[in-house]
Amino acid sequence: MSIYQFAKSIVLLAGQRIREELSQELIIETKSNPNDLVTNMDKETEAFLVSQINEHYPEHRIIGEEGHGQDVTDTEGYLWVIDPIDGTLNFVHQQQNFAISIGIFHDGKKYAGVIYDVMNDKLYHAEAGHGAYLNDQPLPVLKDTELVTSIISMNPNWLTKERTRDMYAPIVQAARSARSYGSAALDFAYVATGIIDSYITLRLHPWDFSGGMIIAEEVGAVVSNQLGEKLDPLHSSSILVANPALHQELLNDYLSPYRARLNEIHQGQFSRR
Ligand code: IPD
Ligand code: CA
Ligand code: CA
Ligand code: CA
Repeated sequence: MSIYQFAKSIVLLAGQRIREELSQELIIETKSNPNDLVTNMDKETEAFLVSQINEHYPEHRIIGEEGHGQDVTDTEGYLWVIDPIDGTLNFVHQQQNFAISIGIFHDGKKYAGVIYDVMNDKLYHAEAGHGAYLNDQPLPVLKDTELVTSIISMNPNWLTKERTRDMYAPIVQAARSARSYGSAALDFAYVATGIIDSYITLRLHPWDFSGGMIIAEEVGAVVSNQLGEKLDPLHSSSILVANPALHQELLNDYLSPYRARLNEIHQGQFSRR
């Protein structure tokens, strides 16, 4: 079994475990603030995935949101970047609209991405260079769109903050419509399947974007930060993902006038380099 096949198989198993345990009462804790939740299922799912990877590929390294992986500072060899439940708030409140997300890199290059929409049994996956799939169906390359006829996804919180309101409100105003799904991984999957045309957010961690980046790029989406720079799996970043024409329109017409501010935000928030 290839590493790609193995990744899909453990994600499906992890999803099955979540579905089976859904009727059990959750143990919910808060992390950085009262709305930043983690449950026993987030931790158990990550522990399961990490133990499976360690058993089969002991030399591979792992970054996981809930800390079962290692403290990784370089991209040598195989690197797994794992979000055991992306959309924990949806998981807690809705018991749906959450996903397991894995991005795998080899010597810093994209290798494979897997996103599993657990309750809808939809597996989005891609091996770099070999196209992306939803279950067994190949996903077509994205068509270019313009903002006026596009649906974008953005968390409305960014429109309530003084520092970002003037930057993002014109995008929402010009778009055909806006959505907010509460799972970054599903946002990437929805761009990859054309359900939305762009996903825009100011802060994601590597486990939020790694799987999605690999899948979306396989169908021709452009994935960058909001300064137009490439993402890397070791650093948190702002995010702009869209089909090529829309990505260019958003970057040139809406975000580049705010380059100075975006640079400042990046230096303040993502200064681990
Ligand atoms: C969160 C979700 C959410 C995004 C947050 C993420 P989590 O991940 O992807 O959509 O807006 O920035 O932290 O904590 O549910 O894995
Ligand atoms: Ca979290
Ligand atoms: Ca996440
Ligand atoms: Ca998570």
